[in-house]
Amino acid sequence: MKKRIGVLTTGGDCPGLNAVIRGVVRAAENLDYEVIGFRDGFEGLLPEGGNYMVLNDANTAGIMAQGGTIIGTTNKGNFISKVGKGDITQIKAEVMERARSVIRCLGIEGLVVIGGDGSMTTAHQLFEGGFNVVGVPKSIDNDLEATARTFGFDSAVACVCDALDRLHTTAKSHRRVMVVEVMGRHAGWIALHGGFAGAADVILIPEIPFNSEKVAEAVMAREKAGHYSSMVVVAEGATPVDGGQFMRDAETSGEVRLGGIGEAVARDIATRTGKETRTCVLGHLQRGGAPTTLDRILGTRFGIKAVELIEQGLFGTMVSYQNYCVRHVPMSDAVHKLRLVEPNCEMVEAACSVGVSFGR
Ligand code: F6P
Repeated sequence: MKKRIGVLTTGGDCPGLNAVIRGVVRAAENLDYEVIGFRDGFEGLLPEGGNYMVLNDANTAGIMAQGGTIIGTTNKGNFISKVGKGDITQIKAEVMERARSVIRCLGIEGLVVIGGDGSMTTAHQLFEGGFNVVGVPKSIDNDLEATARTFGFDSAVACVCDALDRLHTTAKSHRRVMVVEVMGRHAGWIALHGGFAGAADVILIPEIPFNSEKVAEAVMAREKAGHYSSMVVVAEGATPVDGGQFMRDAETSGEVRLGGIGEAVARDIATRTGKETRTCVLGHLQRGGAPTTLDRILGTRFGIKAVELIEQGLFGTMVSYQNYCVRHVPMSDAVHKLRLVEPNCEMVEAACSVGVSFGR
């Protein structure tokens, strides 16, 4: 039997997943590995014999530009080991055992787990349980520790920026305030970068609780200066100083679905300023579509590096992007905490310098 590598994509999807898969397959085939792509994340490790497709040069050709993942993913199921910012649960022993036996039967020498912070927590538990795992950091939120970048983030930011470019013209024509709600449960990277690139006037992020009065003041200050429209970007997890996160409902995974802050901010601005406001929730548009060139390049490099780590037997590590280079770090460095925006970091200060209000 040919030596084999396994690969799976897990957690929320994002642009660039297919670029990583393609990178893994090409690098693996160069080293004479066969690649087993488990379907629907870790869940593909559970049915007897595994639920998988053999990935090769032919069936991964042309996938680079496709959003989503050709092998499927889930952010629910038997392998959820982390909820919210940090509640950790242990994967059940019988689930581990079933996965172990599938991996053994298929002769998988190393498993590439492409996922975000929750998925890395699971991967780390598998590693501690004796699995040969390496991680690839994925997230539109860019909130994973131990890597300066996750792939998927740049594409999400490009989507936000494109939306703001479109919304500016309609806001200006009607002299309105446009409130754009973007993703980011705990980390405001998408709102910060997307808002910065899309010339937002107000950016509200989870790391900087906002004062509604200050937000209204920022809109009115623009009015006085002759700018009759304003663009407000708000991360779904942003909170007013005197309130909590806006929740929709609890998922079966235990994770809470956020949403509604955009509408609340818009209502508040309208009441305080008398200006006409409109809300636009970008939602899953930020997770779909073709990856940007940056995410294609990053994703492919990450996939190649993951195979290299398996070949070298460096299990329990995660691919990491540092100082423009693709390296690796212990997976343990990436779990148990999120990489958040520092409220006084250079990027926040730069935004303030060009007139952005953070509502503080
Ligand atoms: O973790 C990425 C993310 O996009 C969050 O910003 C968002 O809250 C969440 O996924 C939504 O996930 P879903 O709707 O797929 O459960």
